[in-house]
Amino acid sequence: NMLDVVLDNKLDIDGFGACEGTLACSTCHVILDSENYKTLPEPVEEENDMLDLAYGLTPTSRLACQII
Ligand code: FES
Repeated sequence: NMLDVVLDNKLDIDGFGACEGTLACSTCHVILDSENYKTLPEPVEEENDMLDLAYGLTPTSRLACQII
C-alpha cells in the first residue's frame, strides 16, 4: 500500500497529507519506481500543478492522496 511506498522511499512524513487529499499542498509527494508509476492513470492537471511545487520533483513523482 501507499504507506509502504512512503517508508520505502524514506521520506520525511511530518505533515504528510496536510490538505487531506484536496490537492492544495504537496506534502503527500511520493517518488514511485517506474513499474508502479506505469500502472497508474495519468495525473490530472491540478495534480501536476501541485507537483511542480513539490520538493525534489522526479519523473515518477505523484501525490499519494490521488493514487491511494
Ligand atoms: Fe495535499 Fe495530497 S494531501 S495534495
